[in-house]
Amino acid sequence: MSQVPENIHTTFDQLLNRADKEQLLKQHAFCVWFTGLSGSGKTTIAKGVERELHNRGYLTQVLDGDNIRSGINNNLGFSEQDRLENIRRIAEVTKLYINTGIITLNCFVSPTEDIRILARDIIGTEDFIEIYVNAPFAVCEDRDVKGLYKKARAGQIKNFTGLDAPFEAPTNANLEIATDRMTIAESVQAVVALLLPKIEAKN
Ligand code: ADX
Repeated sequence: MSQVPENIHTTFDQLLNRADKEQLLKQHAFCVWFTGLSGSGKTTIAKGVERELHNRGYLTQVLDGDNIRSGINNNLGFSEQDRLENIRRIAEVTKLYINTGIITLNCFVSPTEDIRILARDIIGTEDFIEIYVNAPFAVCEDRDVKGLYKKARAGQIKNFTGLDAPFEAPTNANLEIATDRMTIAESVQAVVALLLPKIEAKN
């Protein structure tokens, strides 16, 4: 739990609470955290999961690195410190969604164990699953959907994850999806199957 700064008087306890909103939405709020290299398929899977859940009547929000970095986090780069701050803010935003009863699908490289632990700690371990979207670096480079691998190889992007910045493969993810061996539809189904029991309304 983060400390409340001096002279700040929060009103969390006076607001309608999460349970009231979950009841309204007939769902249990939750965060699915996708981690993996750029181009591994995180957002592609999340988009498919969102569509499936929407069709079943669940309210969701996809949060994705490129979108967040074009808005609330447009003052952050890719140093270790900035990535940590990126994820800290995202985790706090996720908590706001969860307190509104909404299921979030978070797609962030989140390259280190420390960063992922920070996210889990802020969001709360009971509302959090981690999914490792695992595609080998060579496969992501081959796909190069955004042309970033080519730029990074040419030295036009510094601190590129997997090249000159680290990616620590998660060791205790709740699910690992090998997107070089599974179709998008299979990947989406695997996540939906894991998620459905967790987001059903509790009462
Ligand atoms: S994180 O490391 O801080 O979690 P985040 O998920 O927000 O990263 O942003 C990653 C996205 O930013 C990538 O999918 C890619 O499109 C873009 N990007 C631009 N520069 C870099 C870089 N140096 N390393 C990784 N991704 C980068």
